[in-house]
Amino acid sequence: MFKALRPQISSIIDSNKTSDAKMQDICELLKANVPHYDWVGFYFKNGDKRELKLGSYAGVPTDHTIIPFGKGICGQVAESNENFVVPDVQAQDNYIACSITVKAEIVVPLFVNGENIGQIDIDSNTPDPFTEADETFLEFVNFEVAKIL
Ligand code: SME
Repeated sequence: MFKALRPQISSIIDSNKTSDAKMQDICELLKANVPHYDWVGFYFKNGDKRELKLGSYAGVPTDHTIIPFGKGICGQVAESNENFVVPDVQAQDNYIACSITVKAEIVVPLFVNGENIGQIDIDSNTPDPFTEADETFLEFVNFEVAKIL
């Protein structure tokens, strides 16, 4: 599945669209093709502020369009610069619930010139669905997206 999606990600990146439209296409591609991806979005550092701002996403709208650094899974990744895999969101103290249907989450930071400037965030309604294959694939997605930022 991830192997087949890689060239599709690359052709979106190479397409003749705006960066925002490309990221939107990627969110929709992932949500439509990965059964355990129920919400897919990109958050980016909001200018000089120590907060994240929601960019493109696919899935239900969220109230959490701004997330301070340190808050929730996303805010923690903004500071740690490391992937964060959450098999069971209910076991997390520092978690921001977007929907009661969400069971698990993965957040992978996005680096441009070595700087953590944002992240891809996936919510799953399936308990404990993420493996190293998700991490490797999402690192690839972010590496590709970094080329257009
Ligand atoms: N659950 C995230 C907030 C973003 S929503 O999943 C879209 C968190 O704890 O940071």
